[in-house]
Amino acid sequence: MKISPFKLERYFDKYEFSAPYLLSSSDCEPLRLNELLALADEKSRSEWDVLKLGYTESMGDPVFRNEISKLYTSISPEDVLVLVPEEGIFISMNVFLEKGDHVVTTFPGYQSLYQIAEDMGCPISKWEPDQDLNFQVQDLKKLVTDKTKLIVINFPHNPTGSLISKNDLNEIVNIAQEKGITLFSDEMYRFMEYDEKDRLPSVCDLYENAVSLFGLSKTFGLPGLRMGWLTTRNKNYMQDLISFKDYTTICNNAPGEKLGTIALQNKDTLIQRSLKIIQTNLLLLEDFSQRHKQWFLWKTPKAGSIAFPELKIKGTVMDFCQDLVKEKGVMLLPHDVYDFSRNHVRVGFGRQSLPKVLSVFEEYVKEKSPAK
Ligand SMILES: Cc1ncc(COP(=O)(O)O)c(C=O)c1O
Repeated sequence: MKISPFKLERYFDKYEFSAPYLLSSSDCEPLRLNELLALADEKSRSEWDVLKLGYTESMGDPVFRNEISKLYTSISPEDVLVLVPEEGIFISMNVFLEKGDHVVTTFPGYQSLYQIAEDMGCPISKWEPDQDLNFQVQDLKKLVTDKTKLIVINFPHNPTGSLISKNDLNEIVNIAQEKGITLFSDEMYRFMEYDEKDRLPSVCDLYENAVSLFGLSKTFGLPGLRMGWLTTRNKNYMQDLISFKDYTTICNNAPGEKLGTIALQNKDTLIQRSLKIIQTNLLLLEDFSQRHKQWFLWKTPKAGSIAFPELKIKGTVMDFCQDLVKEKGVMLLPHDVYDFSRNHVRVGFGRQSLPKVLSVFEEYVKEKSPAK
C-alpha cells in the first residue's frame, strides 16, 4: 500500500520546533520528568531507578495494563494492548479492513482515521458536522449501508471539540450491533470534558465488537512517552491486533511503560492539572474572540484542548496562517490540513504559554485590516 502524506503532521514538522509561538498544539502542557517522578510513591520510584532496559511484554507491562483497565468499567488487563496511539490506528485499520470495505467516519478528523482506509482502497463516507459544528446522528444513519464494515468515531472530537449525547452514542452502538459493524472509537481527548456530566462512556464498555483508543499524549500531558492503548472485549480482535503489532513495534519502550504507570497511579492529579490550564485559557480565548468579532466566529468547544473557529477574511486561510507565522512567529493550523472546505483554523489552548502567544497574535490582528 502507498500511503498519502499526513498533511497536519507535515505542517507541524515545518513549524513546531522553529516557530516561537505555538497556537495549535493539541496536547496539554507536557510535564517534565522530575515533575512526574515527584508524584511517584516509594515503590514506583525505586523501581524506576533500577529499571531494566530490555525488551518488554508485547501486550504491555501487566502492572501498566492493570492501571489502564481501571479507566473502564468492563475491561480487564487482558483486554488492553499497549502501543503508540498512532500505531493503534494503523494496526486497527489493517486488521479490520480489506480493500473495498465501506467505512463511515467522523469528518473533518485526524487524517489517519480515514486516510489509511482510503489508501487501502476502501470507499469512505464522511459524517460531517452541521454549520454549528455539531454532529447529528441522523446524518450518520444515512451513510451506513449493508456494505459498511467499520464505523470510526472520535469524541471528544479533533478539531472541533464537539461531543455527542450519551443517547446518540447508544444509537450508534445499536446501529453497529444491528448490522454487525465493527466500531472504532478514538477517545484520545477523554476526561477533558469541561462538565463531567458530558463525559461519554468508553465504547469498549458498551459493545463487544468495538475497539477504543486512548493514551497519555493529550489529557495527561505526556506525548513524549508515546504511550497509548487499544481496549476491546472481543478476544478474536485482540489476537489479530497483537499479531499485527509483531510487524510494527513488537513491544513498547520500558521507560515509557514505567512512567505511564506512575502517571495513571496519579491520574486525578494530572487530569485536574490539564483541566485547570484549559479552563483558564478558554476564558482568555473567549474574551479575545469577543474583542475581535470582526475576525472570528468563535464556538466554545465542549471538551478537549482544541477549538475550530471560523475566520472571516478576504484571502485564503492558508495565506493568513503563513503570513502570521512569517511576521510574528505564531503558528495556527489552516483548515486545509484537514481537507475541510470551510474557512476554519485550529486553535490549541492546552499550553501554559497561551497568554503570551495570544498577545503576539493580538498585535498581528490589530495591525492588519480584517474581514470580508
Ligand atoms: C484524534 C487523535 N487521535 C490520535 C492521535 C495520535 O496520537 P499520538 O500523536 O500521541 O500518536 C492524535 C494526535 O494528535 C489525535 O488528535
